[in-house]
Amino acid sequence: MAPPTEPRLVTDPEALRDACARARQAGQRVGFVPTMGALHEGHLTLMREARARVGDGGLVAVSIFVNPTQFAAGEDLARYPRELDADLARCASAGVDLVFAPTVDAMYPADDATRVHVGGLTEALDGIFRPGHFDGVTTIVARLFALVGPSVAIFGRKDYQQWRVVTRMARDLFLPVEVVGVATVREADGLARSSRNRYLTPEARERAGCVPAALRAADALWRAGERDPRRLEAVAHAALSRASDTVEYAEVRDAESLGPLTRESASLRPMVLAVAVRIGTTRLIDNHVFGDLPP
Ligand code: PAF
Repeated sequence: MAPPTEPRLVTDPEALRDACARARQAGQRVGFVPTMGALHEGHLTLMREARARVGDGGLVAVSIFVNPTQFAAGEDLARYPRELDADLARCASAGVDLVFAPTVDAMYPADDATRVHVGGLTEALDGIFRPGHFDGVTTIVARLFALVGPSVAIFGRKDYQQWRVVTRMARDLFLPVEVVGVATVREADGLARSSRNRYLTPEARERAGCVPAALRAADALWRAGERDPRRLEAVAHAALSRASDTVEYAEVRDAESLGPLTRESASLRPMVLAVAVRIGTTRLIDNHVFGDLPP
């Protein structure tokens, strides 16, 4: 069998805009997967979803850009893995047509003065522990959407809050893009696939099993009929504290607005349990939706 063809590599924003505009003019649907690279099976699943949604005749575009504005001071911007050649081969294996890998200066010119801020949804969970993070995400995603003009953009639900924030941004800005959230891809023990898992030492990797264990424990309680958010949080917190160094949060929230829930309101709304922990030098996040997903 012939090896998969390498996608076209574009580094200039205007060349990206041009390539996507031509595809749309030719009647192709454009599917887009924004990433920061260090691609793994979770990302490849998003690319395959993009292909399924735009069809064989569509254009699947992937961006690979470690976006500095979404890292707070002291976070892992400098050590975030960068491996473009390997990533291009991974994109080829997933049938991607075009990869956009710009420089920081191309996306943030010296006279850049615009940031995109989504209120409400960003004021909880990671919005508290990573100040400015979501403004960085929405700013880069809005810029990428403006260049690509996708009809569909695919995000992983492992970054659940990010998916909700980007969905809200697209809605509020009347962007003509369908934002799709795809289920988390997990390791055999349930640990969510993440580019940051490679930071885990073997000992920390073993301890990281407490994250899926906490989600499973809360789900078992929910299936047994428990609907009190505080009790679901408590069981998750207990499982996380057994093996992690710090539990940043283990919170049950409204799955759509991410607003707080009381015992009474919880029975009326779909709920998400969102967790963040630190294990060694690694920060891990994960989540579990009880019942139906929001649209
Ligand atoms: O999820 C990510 O990898 C990033 O936050 C994104 C969406 C590519 C924006 O930089």
